[in-house]
Amino acid sequence: MNQQLGFPYRSFRRQIIGVDCRVPTRRNLHAPYVHFDNAASTPALQPVVEQMADRLEWYSGVHRGTGHKSWQSSRAYDESHRVIGHFVGADLDRDTIILTKNTTEAINKLAYRFPWNPDDLVISTEMEHHSNDLPWRFRTRVQYVPVDENGHLEIAALRSMLRSAYPHARLLAVCGASNVTGHINDIHYLASLAHEYGALILVDAAQLVPHVPMDMKSHHDPGHIDFLAFSGHKIYAPFGCGALIGPREFFQRGNPDHTGGGTVSLVNQEQILWADLPDREEAGSPNVVGALMLADTLGYLQKLGINRMATYEDALTDYALSALATVPGLTIYGSQPRVGVISFNLAALAHSQLGNILCHEGGFGVRTGCFCAQAYVRKLLGIGSNLSLSDWASIDPAYWPGMVRISLAAYNTREEIDALVVLLQQITQNPGYYKRMYPISSNQQEFFPRQLKSTVGYV
Ligand SMILES: Cc1ncc(COP(=O)(O)O)c(C=O)c1O
Repeated sequence: MNQQLGFPYRSFRRQIIGVDCRVPTRRNLHAPYVHFDNAASTPALQPVVEQMADRLEWYSGVHRGTGHKSWQSSRAYDESHRVIGHFVGADLDRDTIILTKNTTEAINKLAYRFPWNPDDLVISTEMEHHSNDLPWRFRTRVQYVPVDENGHLEIAALRSMLRSAYPHARLLAVCGASNVTGHINDIHYLASLAHEYGALILVDAAQLVPHVPMDMKSHHDPGHIDFLAFSGHKIYAPFGCGALIGPREFFQRGNPDHTGGGTVSLVNQEQILWADLPDREEAGSPNVVGALMLADTLGYLQKLGINRMATYEDALTDYALSALATVPGLTIYGSQPRVGVISFNLAALAHSQLGNILCHEGGFGVRTGCFCAQAYVRKLLGIGSNLSLSDWASIDPAYWPGMVRISLAAYNTREEIDALVVLLQQITQNPGYYKRMYPISSNQQEFFPRQLKSTVGYV
């Protein structure tokens, strides 16, 4: 399959740090670890880390030093902004690339920096990660676009919300791809819809940029993305750097959310003259190494071919969906178009019980629960608002509603998916056995395998 799609899969996999790690399972102290939690964080790339070791010889603090190392580091740090902007098709003349810790910090910054008027509102959606919901609540009014039973946005409802709130709906804040179902939103269509009603759009691209070639499009295009947020640690650069990209002229107005060293050009006790962008929005000493690692990683991926990676991932996702569909009693949530994020439940087992079984029987790294998207998971599970938060809180945490999620990346393989499906088939053949083997712990917090404590070497 890999050759057919023209993606140099094997050599890419060899560059993944930790891809050959072994972990203890109930039957095997040295089972291959299968990382199916790429939506949370992807591993780093060996060539980028090696290159950084050389670069570190020339590392120094940026912008404020006089000396060759500081000049060199400053140039490289500034250039990293351009590389990151270029990767997502930002307009390098009209947009500013503000480096943040992650998507969450980027969205909080925008929520703070937006010049809200008292009657304004932001339109978010029911499919958002908490990071694209909670930050808005403390700054302005929020309305949520509903999703249908497949987890897709109800576009007619969005249009009517934009129309009836006009001109107060100032921003549509929507994910590019869901971290629960992997569902991909048509962001350029959503942008044109928002623009038609005088609103701007923020795309939370935490799950999109790592999997789909991204183009913010020209500022003259109705489908232009005004603001984009994403995290390096979800695209092979787990070094604490993410980005918020948006129009320079927007960030030239108002005061930064964080102030201090590096943000000013001139200051006295009465007045402040802010520094140029992006410095005024990056208070304090920046994460220089994180920025360089992110830029180098994106450069590496670009050379490898983002389109080819995406094609490979699409084929792998289709393969996983077909294979999982053969498991009796397995419910998969969401539908196409999607990135390789697949959430499911298996009848008769709690999601966290199943997650622990996959970990301790098969060495899989997955995620269970609501994935910081409680509203969306509730909706997909058909719980709606019938379960109040206090009712929810009174349930033992191990039995809270949720799902098991696998999330794929371009180094995962069909063989890894086959191994998962074989294990799921085994579980469905004898669920009673696995239920007995994985009782709930005494504090009612999680399920744990019975024989584990006596297993030598198990960590
Ligand atoms: C869709 C989406 N948005 C936002 C975030 C928050 O990203 P971070 O934790 O890197 O800030 C995540 C994290 O999983 C996500 O999946």
